[in-house]
Amino acid sequence: MANPPDDLLDHDYDGIREFDNPLPKWWLYMFYGGIVAALVYVPYYHFGPGPLPREQWAEDMTAWWQQHPPPELADHAELEAMAEDPAFVAAGQATFNVRCMSCHAIDGGGLVGPNLTDEFTIYGQQRDQIVAVIFHGTKNGMLAWKDQLGLEEIYQVGAYVHSLRGTTPAKPKAPDGVPIVDPTPEIAATAQP
Ligand code: HEC
Repeated sequence: MANPPDDLLDHDYDGIREFDNPLPKWWLYMFYGGIVAALVYVPYYHFGPGPLPREQWAEDMTAWWQQHPPPELADHAELEAMAEDPAFVAAGQATFNVRCMSCHAIDGGGLVGPNLTDEFTIYGQQRDQIVAVIFHGTKNGMLAWKDQLGLEEIYQVGAYVHSLRGTTPAKPKAPDGVPIVDPTPEIAATAQP
């Protein structure tokens, strides 16, 4: 059955007429409901005790990190002991040639990423410093590998990177960072990745 025709309102603007066609009730109730919800939401969340999504997210992330602490990375001495096995370093080289050469060049001479063979370093050249950079990445373009590589692989590739220092790459990139002075704990202290 067709709806009965709506009443015409009596105004007329240059021949344009308007039907008396009120908004449907469901729409109006949603509209009023929206106003009421906003009157509760804004004072509670923006001016009251309710957490905003950003705060809630930060809280959830903090809780998550407390339940999933990052692994304790091996220290310099432990890494040094691992690197005594040539097969361990060779495995690191295999990973480097797949994952790292696009930015550091196949021989570590540097492309987008810094030269890993020269006598300069940004984050320190000690084994634990190298591993920390590979694990966590840095703000300036070095990727974090903690989700792509296992801890063992990170230690292996770290051992290989450490072995590159002092080698002669085909096209060495100009130095980045500070000259290496042994030992360099102050670099790690000032330049956290
Ligand atoms: C997308 C490019 C890219 C890839 C891939 C990459 N790196 Fe880097 N890497 C960089 C950049 C850029 C820096 C300099 C970061 C900075 O200055 O904060 C860097 C820095 C480093 C440093 C610190 C150097 C120093 O002087 O302190 C190490 C060690 C390192 N990368 C190792 C690796 C290893 C190992 C891999 C592979 C698992 C890898 N990188 C893959 C771009 C990359």
